[in-house]
Amino acid sequence: MFAIGVCYNEGMMSTQSLPAVQTPTMLDFISHSVAQTIRIGLRLGERLQSGDLVLLLGDIGVGKTHLVKGIVQGIGSEDLVTSPSFVLINEYRPGPKAQRSLASARIHHIDLYRITEPAELTGIGLEEVLDRYHDICLIEWADRAATWLPQEHLAIYMQHLAEDKRILRFVPQGKRYYDLVETLKQTAFG
Ligand SMILES: Nc1ncnc2c1ncn2[C@@H]1O[C@H](COP(=O)(O)OP(=O)(O)OP(=O)(O)O)[C@@H](O)[C@H]1O
Ligand SMILES: [Mg+2]
Repeated sequence: MFAIGVCYNEGMMSTQSLPAVQTPTMLDFISHSVAQTIRIGLRLGERLQSGDLVLLLGDIGVGKTHLVKGIVQGIGSEDLVTSPSFVLINEYRPGPKAQRSLASARIHHIDLYRITEPAELTGIGLEEVLDRYHDICLIEWADRAATWLPQEHLAIYMQHLAEDKRILRFVPQGKRYYDLVETLKQTAFG
């Protein structure tokens, strides 16, 4: 359905590792704890809008689900975030604190870890949630669905640096996401 890119490297999509070359449109954060990762997610979630797509990439246990916890809180949902590893897609509702424009939106938290080949993507409901233009989609292991995903998105690459230390590299694709990262640079931790 869509043309793609998570992150291009000489025409190929990189998988779990950080894009090797940093460009001015990207944004790096270092997290030293679970609490900091959640706080980074919170700052991002506060700035998400209806229709946004966030891809989360990184090895097992790097902290993708904890980042999603923060994002979902930042959007204003009071729902409990759990790993959708077995059900593949969790759905959360924005709560009373969410922006009014998100009141009828849903947050789809998708985990594609169990997908080993593209044929397995049909029938899990991924296309349906991506077609819901007013909703927000957060996709862990998004590289497993690379050719299915919209070209415009915010990709977040996470990597272990030490036991509790992580680097998070925000890589925007498309104007909406360049603007979002620019806003984060100027406002989130200033
Ligand atoms: N700075 C940090 N940020 C996030 N998690 C951290 C950090 N330091 C340590 N951790 C630990 O790393 C683990 C991250 O788990 P989490 O489920 O968020 O990872 P994940 O990337 O979603 O894994 P999976 O690929 O299995 O879905 C937790 O046990 C958490 O306590
Ligand atoms: Mg996870």
